[in-house]
Amino acid sequence: MAFNIALHILSAVIWVGGMFFAHQALRPAAVQVLEPPLRLELWVQVFRRFFVWVWLSISLLLITGYWMLFSWFGGFAGAPLYVHLMQGGGLIMVCVYLFVFFVPYRGLKQSVIVQDYPKAGAYLNVIRRLVGFNTLLGLLVITTAAAGRYL
Ligand code: HEM
Repeated sequence: MAFNIALHILSAVIWVGGMFFAHQALRPAAVQVLEPPLRLELWVQVFRRFFVWVWLSISLLLITGYWMLFSWFGGFAGAPLYVHLMQGGGLIMVCVYLFVFFVPYRGLKQSVIVQDYPKAGAYLNVIRRLVGFNTLLGLLVITTAAAGRYL
């Protein structure tokens, strides 16, 4: 259990903390300092690296989460409300990430390769909104997960 929960929380920290940093610190700094072609190239390289960690975090979150759900609470019926909320919020976050990865991120990469920067900027805008949404939801899920048992 100790090992499971540790992996679970580390995965949540890496995923949600990484999104928070990208959205709240790196994005405004990049807008201030870099012109669009370089800025868009930067984001492709940032996502290329960060998304490897997101795939790993999501896999570990789901494996450890469902492992605890079944071994600790004996399945869905025995799980308290805050675990259901965490699971529901987590699944929405995963769906949003899958959409980001397979649609606007793919479009961003292709547009940067052919140097269509206005189109790349539009894709990046979609990613920005969805990552903003997932960051907020992630913070909410962490709050619910951590405070839930004391309510
Ligand atoms: C999607 C499927 C998920 C399942 C099935 C799941 C399941 C669980 C379970 C069973 C626990 C142990 C609860 C307890 O000991 O009272 C737990 C803890 C926790 N989970 Fe999840 N989880 C999921 C996703 C997530 C996500 C996406 C996040 C964060 C973004 C998250 C953050 C946490 C945190 C912070 C704790 C520690 C709570 C504490 O003991 O203080 N979980 N999770």
